[in-house]
Amino acid sequence: MNTANIQEEILKLKKEKGVCILAHSYQAREICEIADYVGDSYQLSVWGSQEKADTMLLCGVRFMAETAKILSPEKKVLLSNPIAGCPMAEQMSRDMIAKIKEEYPDYTVVAYVNTIAELKTICDVCVTSASAVRIVDQIPNDKILFIPDCNLGAYVAKMLPHKTVKLLNGGCPLHAAVTPDEVKLARTRHPEAKLLVHPECIPEVAAAADFVGSTTAIMKYAQESDAKEFIIGTEISIAEHLQYDCPDKRFYPLSMNLICANMKATTLMDVYRVLQGEAGEEIILDDRTIADARRCIDAMIALGG
Ligand code: 13P
Ligand code: SF4
Repeated sequence: MNTANIQEEILKLKKEKGVCILAHSYQAREICEIADYVGDSYQLSVWGSQEKADTMLLCGVRFMAETAKILSPEKKVLLSNPIAGCPMAEQMSRDMIAKIKEEYPDYTVVAYVNTIAELKTICDVCVTSASAVRIVDQIPNDKILFIPDCNLGAYVAKMLPHKTVKLLNGGCPLHAAVTPDEVKLARTRHPEAKLLVHPECIPEVAAAADFVGSTTAIMKYAQESDAKEFIIGTEISIAEHLQYDCPDKRFYPLSMNLICANMKATTLMDVYRVLQGEAGEEIILDDRTIADARRCIDAMIALGG
């Protein structure tokens, strides 16, 4: 079977079985093409929860499938490839943060959505890369313990100087590895291009950008901008998708190392096999974990997230 045949089979199977496919925008193009929704992790969970289908198939990484399950506990949530984790989301355990919380009893613990469900259960407020600055600004307490991403946390601290933001040593291995030298090189090669970066990049890289934003915000900026060339400082698939969406513009990856192996673990064939009942993993979370992690997400919603 070629790609088009597999896609056709997937579309038939998902209709027959009443499955809604959610694909993170870091997924390969052929997967995004057969998805019902393509977007960032939190938005996918919200769309999934509003869908009629009682089974969701998430093409992305484990914490995203867990977030979908937390928002839709009554639905069946399948992760397309069980090996797809997120190293950042799995960096800090519940026990580790429980201990650190004791050292900072008067701090509000803010968890990036890129955290495992179990960790969310002991955090106060969840944020996404798109909402972090806005939500932290709304938190009445000025003392914030921000986990796990010290780069997103540093960006929030820079934007909200009236807050005291305590950071831990965590982050996305690939965004954090982008260097100021790579920025210099890309700027030299493409002097007319706007540089758009994800806030998971280190502060020196973010400070050199024309725009800092989530995957969705980067795509929107590039689509709406009058500029014709863009250097994209996030996972490489965003530059690829934008090149298809805007053929009259040019998109250059900031670094060829910006490839998330976990996001790329899912193949079109995996999706097909999950729909045939031969692959994938159903996300199972106990009621307590769902209720406590939900509290953290609801706190974000209450603050306008
Ligand atoms: P977004 O929430 O911006 O989609 O980012 C998800 C992610 O994993 C970034 O590395
Ligand atoms: Fe996790 Fe980084 Fe991959 Fe995003 S790009 S899923 S934060 S490892």
